[in-house]
Amino acid sequence: MDLFEYQARDIFEKHGVPVLGGVVATTPEEARAGAEQLGGGTVVVKAQVKTGGRGKAGGVKLAHSPEEAAEKASEILGMDIKGHTVHRVMIAAGARIAEEYYFSVLLDRANRSYLAMCSVEGGMEIEQLAVERPEALAKVAVDPIVGIDQAKADEIVTAAGFADDVKAQVADAIQKLWTVYKEEDATLVEVNPLVKTEDGQIVALDGKVSLDENAGFRHADHEALEDKDAADPLEAKAKANDLNYVKLDGEVGIIGNGAGLVMSTLDVVAYAGEAHGGVKPANFLDIGGGASAAVMAAGLDVILNDPQVKSVFVNVFGGITACDAVADGIVQALEILGDEANKPLVVRLDGNNVVEGRRILTEANHPLVTLAETMDGGADKAAELANA
Ligand SMILES: Nc1ncnc2c1ncn2[C@@H]1O[C@H](COP(=O)(O)OP(=O)(O)OP(=O)(O)O)[C@@H](O)[C@H]1O
Ligand SMILES: [Mg+2]
Repeated sequence: MDLFEYQARDIFEKHGVPVLGGVVATTPEEARAGAEQLGGGTVVVKAQVKTGGRGKAGGVKLAHSPEEAAEKASEILGMDIKGHTVHRVMIAAGARIAEEYYFSVLLDRANRSYLAMCSVEGGMEIEQLAVERPEALAKVAVDPIVGIDQAKADEIVTAAGFADDVKAQVADAIQKLWTVYKEEDATLVEVNPLVKTEDGQIVALDGKVSLDENAGFRHADHEALEDKDAADPLEAKAKANDLNYVKLDGEVGIIGNGAGLVMSTLDVVAYAGEAHGGVKPANFLDIGGGASAAVMAAGLDVILNDPQVKSVFVNVFGGITACDAVADGIVQALEILGDEANKPLVVRLDGNNVVEGRRILTEANHPLVTLAETMDGGADKAAELANA
């Protein structure tokens, strides 16, 4: 889960990372009040969207009075930045910047480790710096067990080439940012820019934090950080039912058990779709091991409520959950859904107790259900029905 900058700012503050005051506003009037709350002096009005390059897009503007803050907020609110509509701005206390630096720590999957990146040339375009002058961006591996202690922080600031007057302060900020990363179970903590102010203070002026949702059970407070408005309504519904669902752009709804099988089903349907007007998978949905009727009904409910879906392919390999249980699940799910089930379903069952599973579906003889012998055959049939 990616956080908004203002949420990152709050978390930084909680862990002692030096930040400036910031107030969220959703209207120009709130922006004016926010600027007053911050002392009435110079502020920066910043678009709160979960994408980079806000400054370049005109989403970060200086204001010298509360009136001007309201004006800038009215310009920025409603703006579109790379497909993200701005619904909130943060009114941030203005810093007098002497130098801009960069720091991040992230998960380094390839090396099964963490990686800290740091540069004395921070600011807007760190990606460009990484490509054009990679030597200006220090990369230091961080042992997950040890983390960023004083020695590691010193190693990072030395590698990045910080001047002596700020070394100690930056090393201290870096250790606190590591605390954020570790204590909050983040997969990314990035500060761009980390600045030195004209009076020599080190401050984090921008923050990007991604939290590991798999660790959500350890952080009751993280749920409140979710952006409920932005969530796809079908994905939200699936999540409420503990389903592993990802909405895609196509027309063939997919249900399977096991992430691997569902991934290959997506491939097979996309391939079969080429012969049927280019139809594509409409979603990823893994109903997992215990495919009970309730789970099957919840899954079908989510998929059938997707207006883009024209047909559904249920592809199940019976393992611990036998095919007859899955078949019962499908029959009962169709009963539960009643008239809401209104799109053709192609079902391919194989594996444990397949004969009994097929018998149950044949006997139920539901008008929407077509049985398929093979995965390829089922994919082809579902694609054909979606294109009909
Ligand atoms: N509170 C502040 N006071 C003074 N200047 C600021 C402040 N916040 C940001 N700036 C200036 O604006 C620039 C852009 O701000 P920021 O880094 O937050 O946005 P961005 O980099 O464009 O967005 P993103 O990080 O999403 O790409 C900063 O590099 C800094 O020079
Ligand atoms: Mg930035």
